[in-house]
Amino acid sequence: MPTPVIIDCDPGHDDAMALLLALASPELELAAVTTVAGNQTIEKVTANAVRVLDIAGADAIPVAAGADRPLVHPARVASEVHGETGLDGPELLPPSREPEPVHAVELMARLLRERPLTLVAVGPLTNVALLLALHPWAADRIERIVLMGGAIAEGNVTPAAEFNIWCDAEAAQRVFSSGIDVAMVGLDVTHRARLTPQRAEGLRASGRAGAFVADLHAFYSRFHATIYGDAATPVHDALAVASLIRPALLHLEPLHAEVDTSLGLCRGRTVVDRWRRTGLEPNSQVAVDVDGDGFIDLLCSRIASLGERRVSPSARA
Ligand code: BDR
Ligand code: CA
Repeated sequence: MPTPVIIDCDPGHDDAMALLLALASPELELAAVTTVAGNQTIEKVTANAVRVLDIAGADAIPVAAGADRPLVHPARVASEVHGETGLDGPELLPPSREPEPVHAVELMARLLRERPLTLVAVGPLTNVALLLALHPWAADRIERIVLMGGAIAEGNVTPAAEFNIWCDAEAAQRVFSSGIDVAMVGLDVTHRARLTPQRAEGLRASGRAGAFVADLHAFYSRFHATIYGDAATPVHDALAVASLIRPALLHLEPLHAEVDTSLGLCRGRTVVDRWRRTGLEPNSQVAVDVDGDGFIDLLCSRIASLGERRVSPSARA
């Protein structure tokens, strides 16, 4: 049986690849896509989520827009990484449909009432924190939260913090302390699983999805070439999705993690007790090692497999 998932995202180049990977993977059933302000405004990332589903012909999967800003602090976008549209690079067609007339948090609650689900959270954690605040019962219906965010050892938006956690540190702390089974896929592993321009370009001939990814990568790689001196890019969010498709790609350790919600130098840092210095019980499964080549092979073969075919729940059944 495929694992039913909701992907909560802010597309975003790597979010787009994460969605395509999920759509191409029979191990997963994508029950809904919810959006949150992060890489760009809520309007832009929601339109982008629909556009990505359009690329795969996945017109039966509901998309709902969520929080337009973090819980406490002002919204900050990542145009320097993802451009003004949030998906700069490919030609962007108008999205084929409006999002559902329901807030993302209410759609999550509705679906969780029907059956237990796994949440894959690859943007700021605002929607997930709001879900837990407004519908506390939902905690018992969430099988797992697999989140892309944080790092044991580094930052990408500040020296100390990773973007998703830094954007809404208060929401992230709410999620880590929720008691739910949380898997943290952070920069420690995503920076060791990178897509080269050659592999991305090699997808172009496979069809519409492959060409879209090649165009996305051509833009996304510029930021990485400038900052890290290498045009190979982490595909952060897709690695979180891949961990559900092929769990052996990641080595997870049960560890205690807390988020620095102070306004100081280390705001947004995930403080992970790697060497058990606090005596606190583990509250999350933290990814500490990755089969980077295995991940890139999986990502490329699945995206290539999308070809021109249409993906919808009925088509996949
Ligand atoms: C995370 O931040 C966003 O820019 C990406 O989409 C990813 O979710 C990486 O730090
Ligand atoms: Ca993201």
